[in-house]
Amino acid sequence: KSYRVAILGATGAVGTELIELLDRRNFPLAELKLLASPRSAGKTLPFKGEQLEVEAVSEEAFKGIDLVLASAGGSTSKAWAAKAVAAGAVVIDNSSAFRMDPTVPLVVPEVNPKAAADHRGIIANPNCTTILMAVAVWPLHQVQPVRRIVAATYQSASGAGARAMEEVKAQARAILAGETPTAEAFPYPLAFNLFPHNSALDERGYCEEEMKMVNETRKIFDAPEMQISATCVRVPVLRAHSESLNLEFSEPFDPDRARDILARSPGVRLVEDWQANYFPMPMEATGRDEVLVGRIRKDLSHPCGLELWLSGDQIRKGAALNAVQIAELLVKENWLQPATAAVSS
Ligand code: A2P
Repeated sequence: KSYRVAILGATGAVGTELIELLDRRNFPLAELKLLASPRSAGKTLPFKGEQLEVEAVSEEAFKGIDLVLASAGGSTSKAWAAKAVAAGAVVIDNSSAFRMDPTVPLVVPEVNPKAAADHRGIIANPNCTTILMAVAVWPLHQVQPVRRIVAATYQSASGAGARAMEEVKAQARAILAGETPTAEAFPYPLAFNLFPHNSALDERGYCEEEMKMVNETRKIFDAPEMQISATCVRVPVLRAHSESLNLEFSEPFDPDRARDILARSPGVRLVEDWQANYFPMPMEATGRDEVLVGRIRKDLSHPCGLELWLSGDQIRKGAALNAVQIAELLVKENWLQPATAAVSS
């Protein structure tokens, strides 16, 4: 069996990666439809040696579509997801619009694949930093429950889209030419700089990105009690995020045991050469499917603490790959069925 698939946000950073992954992973496609804003209508994008024309999203566009991979931002998802579901499609949504909706599964296939079975037409793809952390922490959490996570992130420009990546390159060129860099996609110049994540702050001083790591991880792990605190920072890296994670268990967790477990875990690649001081780097995580994990060591400040470091491609496993893996899971388990119940919006 093959499926009629639409990508909403096909011209974006994640959208173009989705197109490439559907091809490379041989997703059983009967048809691929590329949708974006009216600005992009008529543009063409390459797929399997052909040029496919981008259409402006419309209700009409979802007719006959089995699966929508949406990556066009929260407001676009809010505007179109229910319409796509009403037209009989299942939507895998990359935006934050539906992630915390209790009727919408939030899925990382390595962690909670079964949650996808209960969809009512929409499945949410978690936030990128959350996905990368979940892939690395879940295998350890299975052996000994994690009580508390303190995370610091080093996030690339790609999280803010294709325009933000171009902006950082332009800023770098400006600075090297002795000019003053300008910023539009970001509030401040990111090239040769860094700043705390530019999402909205709550009354306690946490930004949305940090609270996504808290709330989404609890939902994916089905661990509402897990204590999580995060500091999210943008760094002048193009497309892979890194994270420093401090994990606290209820008993000591031997770093060698953690290494053995992670070396065998799906979606993880252990990258450690202590002699060479060689550990995961965003440049090496770029373009790879796995989350690179390493620098696993005992927390000197706590007997039950473990430190680890990771880098993962934000656009790949942090977004597009996770969405395509969810789609593959739906196909494999025969869960790619139109919703029968009404969707909350
Ligand atoms: P467009 O290129 O036509 O603006 P990124 O995350 O890289 O910024 O990409 C965002 C994606 O979402 C792009 O494909 C963009 O299309 C699409 N998009 C943004 N706003 C809308 C909208 N109102 N309707 C449909 N697609 C949209």
